[in-house]
Amino acid sequence: MMVTKELELEALLQENRHFEPSEEFRNNANVKTPDLYNESSEDRIGFWAKQSERLTWIEPWTKVLDWEPPFAQWFVGGKLNAAYNCLDRHLKSWRRNKAAILFEGENGDSRVLTYQDLYREVSQFANVLKSMGIKKGDRVTIYLPMIPEAAIAMLACARIGAPHSVIFGGFSAESLRNRIEDAQAKVLITSDGSFRKGNIVPLKSNADIALEGVNCIEHVVVVKRTDNKVAMQEGRDIWYHDAMKNAQLTCPVEPMDAEDVLFILYTSGTTGKPKGVVHTTGGYMVGVSTTHDWVFDLKEEDVYWCTADVGWITGHSYIVYGPLANGATVLMYEGTPDYPAKDRNWEIIEKYGVTILYTAPTAIRTFMKWGPSYPQGRDLSSLRLLGTVGEPINPEAWIWYHKYIGGERCPIVDTWWQTETGMIMMTPLPGITETKPGSCTVPFPGVKVEIVDQAGNPVPKGSGGLLVVREPWPAMLRTVYNDPDRYVSTYWSNWKEIYFTGDGAKWDEEGYFWLLGRVDDVINVSGHRIGTAEVESSLVDYPLVAEAACIGKDHEVKGQAIVCFVTLKEGFKVMDGLVDELKQHVGKKIGAIARPDDIFFTAELPKTRSGKIMRRLLRDIAEGRALGDVSTLADAAVLDFLKRKYNEEE
Ligand code: WT7
Repeated sequence: MMVTKELELEALLQENRHFEPSEEFRNNANVKTPDLYNESSEDRIGFWAKQSERLTWIEPWTKVLDWEPPFAQWFVGGKLNAAYNCLDRHLKSWRRNKAAILFEGENGDSRVLTYQDLYREVSQFANVLKSMGIKKGDRVTIYLPMIPEAAIAMLACARIGAPHSVIFGGFSAESLRNRIEDAQAKVLITSDGSFRKGNIVPLKSNADIALEGVNCIEHVVVVKRTDNKVAMQEGRDIWYHDAMKNAQLTCPVEPMDAEDVLFILYTSGTTGKPKGVVHTTGGYMVGVSTTHDWVFDLKEEDVYWCTADVGWITGHSYIVYGPLANGATVLMYEGTPDYPAKDRNWEIIEKYGVTILYTAPTAIRTFMKWGPSYPQGRDLSSLRLLGTVGEPINPEAWIWYHKYIGGERCPIVDTWWQTETGMIMMTPLPGITETKPGSCTVPFPGVKVEIVDQAGNPVPKGSGGLLVVREPWPAMLRTVYNDPDRYVSTYWSNWKEIYFTGDGAKWDEEGYFWLLGRVDDVINVSGHRIGTAEVESSLVDYPLVAEAACIGKDHEVKGQAIVCFVTLKEGFKVMDGLVDELKQHVGKKIGAIARPDDIFFTAELPKTRSGKIMRRLLRDIAEGRALGDVSTLADAAVLDFLKRKYNEEE
């Protein structure tokens, strides 16, 4: 997107609480000294060269970085295989019999796959794909629930060099079709269905609708999960378990160039046709394995649980490739946190003795809304580290997470990154970084993130602006699939050789970064540019409030007025005077300029399937427009409710 002068941001909210890791955590941490920051800023290239030694290479690289802006090649000339790095190499040690995946089904069924088990299934399935004619470079689409076969399918593709495109199982037939056609995939891997809150989502019938009139798909592999009746098309469709019966147990790995494509992942962004973000093999694997090790302070004994779906980048980088490259034990859960009861996540932590939990602010705010009795009823003492990703975490949500989930003993890593960045870019390192609730703290070693003004110059400490990445990084996207022009215009058109993230941010006097929200959501009140995050966080700071979304609505005098949609914690009712009290609270917390003009109460906010608040739709409602693209909306009923309510109260 193009930025204009209007988009430089004010820094309003002050947050002074800070937290240090305990003595014990500090002493045992994988990263104990801040030297890495100095070393890596003095020699960024040397730093990443050193990290490449984590991987097993088939042929060594000859040059760390070839940078022809905005096109980068990392570890030029190197050859490796991602599946080999996630599986085969662990079989040479005791890790062979270590649990790679602990699977918990929605219905309470479970399954453990050791590294040896996973290696065998991946090899077999790679042979199945080969028998269907899939070769290096052919695209395979994966449309599965959160079951081990999702990871197996991804790794099988990686093993034979076929780029995968994973489509989140909550997407519709139409979204699936668009993405299959864009990638011109030859094989689709799906399941009969997916369990969701006791119901069955008919993935195979969605897939059948998606494939009507599509010519590129030659075969469909169907995993039996829900046992509902599905139509199998003769010659095209085959059951996973039938195909696996005859598959050979071993399959050689395809030597991949460091710059060969590992996967395509579609991201819708806020507008327009989804973009196929392209990630390659060498730099991506170096980036995700390094960050996973240091950010999560991974130990052999850890039980690591990332609650994301494999359909998102978080699932790719921090359920599959990063953790498995590091030989971790990864918990994978099929269902939702409120099924069969609102303590499901905490029950799972108790059952498996989870030590590291990585989840999203939207989930934390939901837990906050439900109240602390659910986690309090379970034993969470195994936890030692918590993480968040996906949106700015409001300081109050951070404090709640720290207190009720982390038992005030677990460091919290607030990790900022994007589908496009592939790897975590800003984060605390839990053994050394003092944390401040609501701040993702500082860039990861070897990553150069800055906040700039319209001209691309860094803003001074204490101010806000546009968040950019100044230097290439190993896991960066390489292009938009089949559309390099869009790659250039979306990310690299504002300033020469600087990557624009689309986010607004500020940094404080100590150089800590605070995300202010997407630049397209910025509210302009009488010439003051206000990020959504600060107004929302000051509302969530009010004890009754669980969640808030703020937008700018056209206003004759001020340019824009601030309109807020607020969800209260369970058990609280809207009382007389609450609206005024909330307006005053925000005014006091961050200044009169950010005082909301209107506040509406709602039980739910419109969110994407990955849990991000869709402020664009709230703007449409507030300005009385027809709703824009709603294809990524998780729950359409929320909007009908909001529209009705908004019109009644206006
Ligand atoms: C956008 C990227 C990266 C995995 C999940 C989302 C927002 C992400 C944070 C954070 C504040 C965050 C940004 C970013 N975001 N993490 N820790 N603090 N904002 O991937 O769907 O590509 O979204 O999510 O706005 O640009 P994505």
